[in-house]
This record gives sequence, structure tokens and C-alpha cells, in this order.
Amino acid sequence: MACAASTEAEKALLPGQVRSQIPNQIYQTRSRRLRSRLTFANITLQLALQRELFQCLGFKSVASSIGRRRRMIKDLWYKNAVLYCLSVGTYMDANADGIGDFQGLMRRLDYLHGLGITAIWLMPFQKSPGKDDGYDISDYYAVNPAYGSMGDFVEFTHGAKQRGIRVIIDLVVNHTSNEHPWFQEARRNPDSKYRDWYIWSKKRPSHANTGMVFPGVQKSTWTRDPVAKQWYFHRFYDFQPDLNTSHPAVQAEILKIMGFWIQLGVSGFRMDAVPFVISTKGPDVRTPREQYDMLRAFREFLQWRVGDSIILAEANVLPRTDMQYFGHDGDRMQMMFNFQVNQNLFYALASADTRPLAKALNRTEKRPETGQWGLFLRNHDELDLGRLTEKQRQQVFKAFGPNPEDQLYDRGIRRRLAPMLGGDRRRLELAYSLMFTLPGTPVLRYGDELGMGDDLSLKERTCCRTPMQWSTEPNGGFTKSNKPIVPVISDGPYGYEHVNAAEQRRDSNSMLNWTERIIRMRKEVPEVGWGEFEILKTGDPAVLAIRYDWRNNSVLFLHNFAEDPREFECSAGLKSKTGDRLVNLLTADHSTAGENGKHCVCLEGYGYRWYRVGGLDYLLKRSEF
Ligand code: GLC
Ligand code: CA
Repeated sequence: MACAASTEAEKALLPGQVRSQIPNQIYQTRSRRLRSRLTFANITLQLALQRELFQCLGFKSVASSIGRRRRMIKDLWYKNAVLYCLSVGTYMDANADGIGDFQGLMRRLDYLHGLGITAIWLMPFQKSPGKDDGYDISDYYAVNPAYGSMGDFVEFTHGAKQRGIRVIIDLVVNHTSNEHPWFQEARRNPDSKYRDWYIWSKKRPSHANTGMVFPGVQKSTWTRDPVAKQWYFHRFYDFQPDLNTSHPAVQAEILKIMGFWIQLGVSGFRMDAVPFVISTKGPDVRTPREQYDMLRAFREFLQWRVGDSIILAEANVLPRTDMQYFGHDGDRMQMMFNFQVNQNLFYALASADTRPLAKALNRTEKRPETGQWGLFLRNHDELDLGRLTEKQRQQVFKAFGPNPEDQLYDRGIRRRLAPMLGGDRRRLELAYSLMFTLPGTPVLRYGDELGMGDDLSLKERTCCRTPMQWSTEPNGGFTKSNKPIVPVISDGPYGYEHVNAAEQRRDSNSMLNWTERIIRMRKEVPEVGWGEFEILKTGDPAVLAIRYDWRNNSVLFLHNFAEDPREFECSAGLKSKTGDRLVNLLTADHSTAGENGKHCVCLEGYGYRWYRVGGLDYLLKRSEF
């Protein structure tokens, strides 16, 4: 593969030319495919030269490993990042109107810096009627006035940057709000240029009651508009008309939106509902087809404007299509959420059977060198279990959300993590330890560092979107108003009186301080973000053992999903003797292999171990590639 790619890239150049020698105009007017090849050509060429040099010098194995791994850029920031997602509206209210705002968020940047996260994923904050928590945008180029001004936004990104924290924002372009002026214009005036920006049908399509994303709440995917006197398509709620994303003008607008925010200091986007954005849409489209090429166009534009910006795709797809999203040459999305691992991880937590999880890890292992998974436990939506078998799904429901009010859309659980795990600290640590050590970049959700709970009296997904609990002050210190935008959880075991940042700060054993420590350690094991992994045999389905190798270093992680202690034998799986010594990174409980090269380990119920293979002089052994 690597060789093929480099040959093509070489061919794309005129003889003897490298990218920097080609005048920009010529560079830009070449065919699209050629252009994207060129983006990587210089690096690939350098690598090819390096490979040749090594081969001449007789370093066969090194040369081939360079070829195989194609490790060209060493500082891709997202490979070893710690992401933290939050909603401005529920984080911190600075002006006492009950709604969180950028001024408030700015005052919490030091908290986030202290926690150790390296990037914030900001949920939609643009102008919106707020019927789907901002995922219904009515102006892509404006901040919702309730959250502050554009000036506040820039001050915020600047404040984050000063602390070394990057910001990525939601890019919600599959649909707009029905209050967006584009839609208003489109429905009123059939001759308007905006008419074609949406998907219309004169008659009600026969498949109008299929393909709903929110079954049980959303009745159809086509709704009649009384003004246009036509039906319009909406993959999500009826107040979110789908944009005609195949239309060149809509595509140009999407690029403009990206260009706008990237100019204001963000490092990229969490792209909402990607499979729907790139899908064909229309009254006659019964089987939508994904237009993957669009992804490359987004990526090219973004990297042309700001080289190190990224797109993190929300795409709950099957492993066989993953590479379509990453691109075989790593030329599409840099990151994707790993929904496959997420669902199987919850199944493993519910059943203590890690085999399907191991399978999911192996099935999602393949990705380009520059591609990265986003690893998460819970997000702002329901825990979607749609990809499990019926039997597995029922088992997760039974364990973590047995009541009808816990469940949503016939496929998921709408609870926060802590109540799902019965507030059991051992299980919470196990789950987070996994999130931090499975292949990819961890994505935390605000409040999970405290073990915040949910409020099931709130409808749909709002139950797990309650305000951040800062202190024991009224309304958890979130607002001075007595009318918070969403009620703060009070009373009960998850009320702010018991679960809040101020108290947990003072307690060295708190969830907050544990999270801070584990983040610090995670940052020191870049092997997880960058390395290749192997799942090791433990002979016990309740125990998952995984080893990462990267630049001459290895780390090994063990997790016991069962409630009871498990004793087992496990080899580090390395040919050399280095694997005989495992240094525990979290406690003083190290391990030395027996005569047979195997480690005999006893893990307590829900126990976990983080080991560095070999000694603590690993940094002296780390190679350059
Ligand atoms: C994504 C978001 C979800 C939203 C939907 C429609 O799935 O995660 O919260 O409702 O898109 O924009
Ligand atoms: Ca406010």
C-alpha cells in the first residue's frame, strides 16, 4: 500500500519537482484527485528517499518498518489529546440570567487546565431557537446572544489557547432550523435560490414514515409545509429541514462556515451526523448512497486554510465502512467516534464477557496512520445500543437501564454513567480506565469527572444535560438566578449538595482528583494514542489484556470486568525478555514473570492495572520512529 501510494504521489509531480517549486496557480488548477495527492506528495517523497537511503546502508528491517508504518508527522496533536465536551449554556452562568455563557466558561478555563484536558469540544452555541439544544441552527455566523457576543467567543478561544487548550466546535450542517432565513425564503419563494438548498416533493413520498432517527418521538421524515405547499425532507425532527448537501452552493456554504470559525481560532470540528450529510437525498431516493468524496473536499479545504485543524466525525457505522470515512490514504476524516467499541464496551461491563469487545477492537483496528478513534463512554445523546444483537442489548438494558423511563428511541439508555453503574466507584474507575487505555483519544463529558447523575423527570435526552455542579451554593454554583435554564440536580445521592467540584477538590480520594491523576498518567503513555496494539490471551473472558507498542516501547493494560477477583496467567507477548518485567504505573504493585515467561496476576473485582513493560528508563529507549 505504502509503495503504491508513494509511486502515485511521485507520478503526480513533474519530473524533478517538489510541491514548493510548483507555482500556486498551477498547483490549484490541477484535477482534484491530483491535488489531494500533492498535499501528501512532498512528505511521501521524503519518506521514499529516506527509505532508499536506509536500504543502501543495509538497514533492511528499519527501512521496511518505515514503509509499513508511514510515520511521517510526529506531532499530530489529536493523536494523544484528551477531549472534554461541554455545552456553554449549562456550564457556568456569569451574568445571573440562568443561562451559562462564554464569560462563565472563561472563568472555568483554569479548572479545565488543572484537570489536564487538552481540547474542548464545544456543543452548538450559534443562534438557534433551541428546540434541539442548539442542533437546530438559525444563523451559522452568529453566537447565540444568550451565551455572549462574538467578542466573548474570541476571548474564550484566546484564553483557551493561552493555556494550551484547543477548541473544536460542532459543525451541524446536515440540516438547519426551520427558522433559518434560508428555509424561510425557500418555502415562500419557489424562484428563490434557496429553494434548492432543501429537499422538496410535490406529493407525500410513499416511504415518508421510514428512516426516522428518533423513533417513538419523530413520526415521519417528510412533512408538508403549508407555505410552500410541498413536502420537505427532515432526517431528524420536523423543525430541522435537511439541507440539500449535494448542491454545489450548499457545499460551498459549508466550506464558508468552516472557514469562518477556523479564522476565529478553533482547531476543527466535530461534524454532526456525517453519514446523513454525505448521503443522497430526495423523494425518489429509497436507498441512500454515501458520497464519500465530499469528505475529502471538506478535509482539503480545512487543511489548506489551517494545516493542523481536524474533523472528528460522528458516524455510527459498521466497521466495514470505517476506511471510507478515514480514507485509505488518510485523506478524509482525521477522527471518528468509535461507536462499535462503545456499544461492545457497555456489553462487556454488563456481562463480564469481553470477547465481543475484543472482536470490536480488532475489527476497528485498521485505520490510516494519521487516522484516530475518539473513545467515549457517554455523550450528550442516549447510549445507542442499536449495533448489538437483540440478546446483548437486552442484557445491557437489564443491567444499566431496566425501567422504561431509562430507555429511549427503542435502542438506547438515556442515563449518565454514574447512575448506570450504581455509583459504584470501582466500576466507574474501571470504565474510565478503559476509556483512557483503549485505542484512540479519550473524550470526556463535562460532569463525569465528578460522577454527576441524571434527572429522569426531564424529557428525552435533557435528563443527562443538567448544569455543571460546582459547589454547595444554591443551584450548585452554576447560576445566581433561581431559574436555571435546565434544573440543577438537587437532593438525592447525585444532588449538588453531595456531588460538586468544590468539595471533591478538597478530597484527595475524590473522583475529580482520581480523574486528574489518570489524565496526567494517560498523557505520559502516548503508546495508546500512537501505537499498534495486540490483545493478549488471559484464558478468562472477564479479563481484557491489551499491549501497545510504539517506538521501541510497550505498555500493557489489564481490566477485570467481573465483580469477583480473578487470578490468571498472562504473557506480555513479546519475543524479548523485556516483557518479563512489568512496572505498575499507578501503584507499587509490579510484576515479574515466572520461569515460563508468564505473569501470574490476581486482579480484584473490577480491578485494573497499567503497566509499563521493562523499566522506567523507557524514555532513554524510545526510538525516533
Ligand atoms: C446528532 C447529535 C444530536 C442531535 C442530532 C441532530 O446526532 O448528537 O444531539 O439531536 O445530531 O442534529
Ligand atoms: Ca448568562
